[in-house]
Amino acid sequence: MKNIDLEEKIIIAMDVEEKERALNLVRMLRHAKIIKIGYRLFIKYGVSILKNIQKLDKKVFLDLKLHDIPNTVAEGIRQATNHKVFMLTIHALGGKEMIKRAVEVANEEADKLSIPKPKILAVTILTSLKEKDLIEIGIQNNVKDEVLNLAKLAIESGVDGIVCSPLEIELLRKNIGKEPLIVTPGIRPLWSQKNDQKRVMTPKEAIEKGADYLVIGRPIIQASNPKQAFLKIIDEIREN
Ligand code: C5P
Repeated sequence: MKNIDLEEKIIIAMDVEEKERALNLVRMLRHAKIIKIGYRLFIKYGVSILKNIQKLDKKVFLDLKLHDIPNTVAEGIRQATNHKVFMLTIHALGGKEMIKRAVEVANEEADKLSIPKPKILAVTILTSLKEKDLIEIGIQNNVKDEVLNLAKLAIESGVDGIVCSPLEIELLRKNIGKEPLIVTPGIRPLWSQKNDQKRVMTPKEAIEKGADYLVIGRPIIQASNPKQAFLKIIDEIREN
């Protein structure tokens, strides 16, 4: 049974360049619970940025989309588990063995340390890839079929959930059931700019369609009042 409170459903994509800016935003966003760290901050600051965020009482979503041979990914996951990451991403395209090892090692390491196991999320086909790109890399399926194929493979191999575009939420829910987590970026409240996101959905709609977590960056972190933007989104989701 999933019991995620509303404030935890909004994951802040901390896509900024400087640590001080990131930490100031985290302090401002008092109600937020989960902060997503990607290549930008992680490659620049390493594990210290994770620690800094955790010290401010937030959970870390480490979005590095791991994809390598099973053993290499597993050892990366071991380290992330050690650093008490709450959520992390791997590529389903790494295949069954890679996914299974990732899940196994996360369980093993978390048990050893008696800490919660990080939630492992699989990325399927990146939304930047179109049909012609799939053909170029030798995938004959269309994007939708391949997203579904990879999502099923990842779930069968033990991941906790899938990262997908809001436009894929319904298709996935119908096919993978209620239990797996669905995490979606590409979210825009009606009052915010779309930026470079092309196919967007409002927070309320995405949750109604079955998303468990929404990844939201610029509408919050670039708002003149980030805390207010965050709370406005929560209120909108709550409204009937
Ligand atoms: O600022 P914005 O709300 O667009 O940020 C969305 C976050 O989700 C960014 O960190 C971006 O890298 C990520 N993302 C995305 N679209 C995808 C996959 C990931 O926007 N298809």
